[in-house]
Amino acid sequence: MKKQDLDWSNLGFNYRPTHKRFVSNWKDGAWDEGCLTENDTVTISESAGVLQYSQSCFEGLKAYTTVDGRIVTFRPDLNAERMYNTCIRLEMPPYPKDKWVEAVEKVVAANEDFVPPYGTGASLYIRPFMFGSAPVIGVKPSKEYQFRIFTTPVGSYFAGPIKPIYITVSDFDRAAPNGTGHVKAGLNYAMSLHPLMEAHRAGFDENMFLDSKTRTKVEETGGANFLFVTKDGTVVTPKSPSILPSITRRSLIYVAEHYLGLKVEEREVFFEEVPDFAECGLCGTAAVISPVGQLNDHGKTIVFGKGLEEPGPTILKLRETLTGIQMGEIEAPEGWIHEIKC
Ligand code: PLP
Ligand code: COI
Repeated sequence: MKKQDLDWSNLGFNYRPTHKRFVSNWKDGAWDEGCLTENDTVTISESAGVLQYSQSCFEGLKAYTTVDGRIVTFRPDLNAERMYNTCIRLEMPPYPKDKWVEAVEKVVAANEDFVPPYGTGASLYIRPFMFGSAPVIGVKPSKEYQFRIFTTPVGSYFAGPIKPIYITVSDFDRAAPNGTGHVKAGLNYAMSLHPLMEAHRAGFDENMFLDSKTRTKVEETGGANFLFVTKDGTVVTPKSPSILPSITRRSLIYVAEHYLGLKVEEREVFFEEVPDFAECGLCGTAAVISPVGQLNDHGKTIVFGKGLEEPGPTILKLRETLTGIQMGEIEAPEGWIHEIKC
């Protein structure tokens, strides 16, 4: 199929409507069959649960063109599982996991010409999401929901080619100890916007959030988990019940251990250890693994490796190996690559 005529290597991370999206509605206790539609708008009551009490959640995954021309997604079963868990926490009706993956397949196939060609560094971002669509006025769950999946072609999340970013420790909290930090609730992102804009206004790319109870441990950013590398090459990643269980992070840990032969520690990471790390990266579907060069701690600068000049070697190697697996250049572990039949 002839691809869209886009400047694939310079897409940035922006929304661009594609041909079709999937829509299914939940009413009277059941999901309907769902269908693909060209309609990219949503009409709902002014009192819909999502508008009044922010009852919404989402997922993010990508479709790639492999070196041998197949279109694949990466571990979609784990996104289906995570959205299932999110829905339970938010009193929303989970969309059945097998049908969730089928719906992803349908939307990607319907937008095949928007899946960026191999070698461009771009991918088709897939955004499944759900919201309370029926009117509510007392504080309670909506009686009706809509589940949708749209796709949009994207390049890198942080503008331009891969270069280290400068982040800052935030004095705001991202997630409460027994709150919703471990699920992908829209409300987590709404409340991170002010800290993010404050960071941008102060000249930083992102925030490092600490645990809100003791403010001594590293949690994550607004949209990615952390990976650190010690001076002797051990990969260290924070473990916390209030961070999102990143699929990219879980995959990178496996890659570090089984492909690169590195030692990995998943544990509480105290902020006071951070200056001792040689490398730091942010990992997620959108971020892939983006190197962090510097961290501002209330006016004191912590520099990782060569700072903003160049990414650390282990972060780069992890990135190359993971993207190599996603693009079919390196053999993937069983079940990681999910081919879409177009
Ligand atoms: N942490 C947060 C808060 C996120 O929004 C994301 C993005 O989904 C991640 C981490 C990374 O998760 P994943 O690797 O599954 O995309
Ligand atoms: C993703 O990585 O898919 C996310 O949902 C995070 C967001 C910052 C785009």
